[in-house]
Amino acid sequence: MLRRNVHRLEKGLLMRPRRVPFALNYIDETVSAYARAAEGGVQGRELCWARDVLNEYMAVTPAHPAVDPLRATVRDAGAKVASVDACEQMIPYVRRMEDAPSITYEDLLGLAKFRRSVRWFLPKAVPREMVEKAVLVAGYSPTACNRQPYEFRIIDDPELVKEAIKLPMGTAGFAHQVPALAIVVGKQRNYFKERDRHLIYTDGSLAIMSFVYGLEVQGLGSCCINWPDIEDREEKMASFLGLAPDERPIMLVAFGFPDPEGMVAYSGKKPVSVICKYNFEAK
Ligand SMILES: Cc1cc2nc3c(=O)[nH]c(=O)nc-3n(C[C@H](O)[C@H](O)[C@H](O)COP(=O)(O)O)c2cc1C
Repeated sequence: MLRRNVHRLEKGLLMRPRRVPFALNYIDETVSAYARAAEGGVQGRELCWARDVLNEYMAVTPAHPAVDPLRATVRDAGAKVASVDACEQMIPYVRRMEDAPSITYEDLLGLAKFRRSVRWFLPKAVPREMVEKAVLVAGYSPTACNRQPYEFRIIDDPELVKEAIKLPMGTAGFAHQVPALAIVVGKQRNYFKERDRHLIYTDGSLAIMSFVYGLEVQGLGSCCINWPDIEDREEKMASFLGLAPDERPIMLVAFGFPDPEGMVAYSGKKPVSVICKYNFEAK
């Protein structure tokens, strides 16, 4: 809830024109959640982000009876938040266009074309540093209200990979030589309403695509593996990973150093004219 509301405050701060005061119907619960988090010893970038955004909100909001009683709480809680990065203010900002990375469209298209599902790997362990670099990229993917409702559960112990790879379907013939697996798990607790129950899959899948590209640019190949909705497999996975009742596998990603002699499918793609339509264009 704190993540969601801090995100909503940021959207209010960047609105053009900015409507002040805003967030009157949720500022109280946000400040309470923030104070609880600061009190409870939650630290790190997440809390600094909440602190900076709440400080900015208080600075731009004129005197108001729904906000004024909360100002002292924000100030007191802020004093308990340890800064992780002294110089960076984690509030809405104007991006300097000169900071844009010099990746061309051709670079991106080349990467997309080169990436194919890899199912044949070298018998070589994947350094965790490479995995974490790919997960770092994944974490920058968009998620609804910035909630990042997922976890990349990495299985890189060969014995555990052997066990885990039996849980999904779709790995017949190549399972025995998969060096590592990411089992991406969504956490429904991040969304309060039933109407949002699909979001772990949307958010998780966007992050997985970034993860796959994060692997690819480091010379690692990968293959997404479907997680079928079959009760006894759900139970086995839940017990294997020790999942909480709201945690659902989204999909698995097998990855490792590609065997340079292993083939990939051509996987012909549909042309843009088929997958892109403008304004009710005829089919
Ligand atoms: C959600 C999802 C589930 C998939 N499940 C499997 C699977 O169980 N086994 C498999 O060999 N490949 C699986 N794949 C890989 C697809 O077969 C592959 O992405 C598709 O054929 C296109 O090929 P390409 O990735 O090389 O472009 C899956 C891909 C996705 C996105």
